[in-house]
Amino acid sequence: AGLAENRQQVDVREDPQATSARKLRILYGTETGNAAEVARAVQAALSERGLTSDLSDMADYKVRQLSQEEDLLIVVSTYGEGDPPQPAIGFFEYLEGRKAPKLTGARFAILALGDSTYEFFCEAGKRLDQRLEDLGAQRLSLRVDCDVDYDEAAQAWTDAITQLLRAEARSVPTFAAPASSVEVVATRYDKRNPFSATMLDNIAIVGRGSTKETRHVEFSLEGSGLTYEPGDALGITASNDPVVVSRLIDTLALQPSTEFKFKEQTLNLGDALTNRFEITTATPRFLQYWALLSEAEALKQLLQEDRAGERSAFLHTHHIIDILRRFPVADVMPQGFVSALRPLQPRLYSLASSLAAVPDEAHLTVAPVRYKLHGEQRSGVASGLLADHAEPESVFPVYIQSNPHFRLPVDDVPIIMIGAGTGVAPYRAFMQEREVRGAEGKSWLFFGERNFRTDFLYQSEWQTWLKDGTLERMDVAFSRDGREKNYVQHRMKEKARDIFAWLEEGAHIYVCGDAANLAPDVHSTLIDIVVTEGRIGPDAAQDYVRSLQSDHRYQRDVY
Ligand code: 2AM
Repeated sequence: AGLAENRQQVDVREDPQATSARKLRILYGTETGNAAEVARAVQAALSERGLTSDLSDMADYKVRQLSQEEDLLIVVSTYGEGDPPQPAIGFFEYLEGRKAPKLTGARFAILALGDSTYEFFCEAGKRLDQRLEDLGAQRLSLRVDCDVDYDEAAQAWTDAITQLLRAEARSVPTFAAPASSVEVVATRYDKRNPFSATMLDNIAIVGRGSTKETRHVEFSLEGSGLTYEPGDALGITASNDPVVVSRLIDTLALQPSTEFKFKEQTLNLGDALTNRFEITTATPRFLQYWALLSEAEALKQLLQEDRAGERSAFLHTHHIIDILRRFPVADVMPQGFVSALRPLQPRLYSLASSLAAVPDEAHLTVAPVRYKLHGEQRSGVASGLLADHAEPESVFPVYIQSNPHFRLPVDDVPIIMIGAGTGVAPYRAFMQEREVRGAEGKSWLFFGERNFRTDFLYQSEWQTWLKDGTLERMDVAFSRDGREKNYVQHRMKEKARDIFAWLEEGAHIYVCGDAANLAPDVHSTLIDIVVTEGRIGPDAAQDYVRSLQSDHRYQRDVY
């Protein structure tokens, strides 16, 4: 019956002369889910044109299959200093290692995601591009490198690839894709169409005198149909601080009410700079634009190919406003100016709640990003807004960003949770979930903050969970109470024997918080623990930790 049905769906417009169709696989490497989302869109676009493909996360992909691949479409993000997504590390190691197969029969195309303000922009994609070529694979198309506003570039890449593969397949009779094979998305609200969530609560959770301003924020998701799992994140499409907007417009000597045409729309400058564009961090593209207008030699120098390091250092210490002030330009055209900006990006926050415990709610732990730059106090876009401008009842555009790489195991498996500062958020979600489910597995929390008296986030909740057994153990490290720095990894070292015993029992281990320092320090501590407690050499310990990663038993959510 299936065959007969399919036959009726043959797309008769296609020329039925057959050439052999090639197997098509879409592979993605992601940490926060963007590359996964793009990859799914690629698959949907292909399927709309009657092209079937397999979709795999590099984290789960059996690398030995590589030698059998024919056409590979790769979407991969870059993090930090040019690193591949952590869950994709095994894939990279295999592909870049000595055991990688020759890929002379294969073809590939790469869409690289990244952030152009970083020195090693799209490095992970560039590495795969080079390596696949070295292994003998042919490029289907040139690699495309996308900035954080990847939508348009990703769409163009997808269209081009689809067209190309479609043209090749013309001579192959094809079956129109049955609608049921396309995954139906359950909710109407997503990144492009966020839900207006009402803020229910917004309170400081650090004590008076704290060096931090950490807040607990609650949103209502009622009526949205949005659901999430512990480990997921909430995306918030915040608007820019009005003070920063008017400072910028004043510096440009323009008026907020100025209207201009942009991509066939009439925009108002004040509104556009408030709601549509990133107006703090500058990009190489903005530098290029401003170098042209200002004819400033210093900017032109920074744009040279071999100055990527200096350029990224400059971009991280000079916001757009600082560049405008230092290299003044008269008579700036609003449309030209906004064309050089990136669209405003949503900010992601790890959810601190479980729907099982608080139906229709989404809780966050937010520490406003604040720093001084060029003598001026600056704040992060969304975190500043949440801290300074949000009263309960205010409304924020939100969506759920799923994070399949940070998931609770089944109920009877032990978990070790390591987090500092707001990195504790997902563990509150984990505990809420495990409490409601009556999960049998043991849980152990390592928590770090600055001062015990003011910064013990959610202290009474952990204590309740310790009492009722949802949480079996808790170890804390307050870094600024004593004379010596006291971090979570120091606590881990002290408890090395038990940590190793839990791991041997099958525990899952989680790390959440700072990506630059905490994550690598905790990682090397973990390896040390395996060396001493497992009585094995450093190489074997590395392998041990690596297999924890590839078994999805060691998961990180770091930022
Ligand atoms: P610090 O600010 O005193 O350096 C949350 O920010 C907590 O993480 C703070 O106690 C902070 O300590 C601590 N922290 C900073 N760097 C860290 C690192 N490399 N490893 C673990 N914790 C760290």
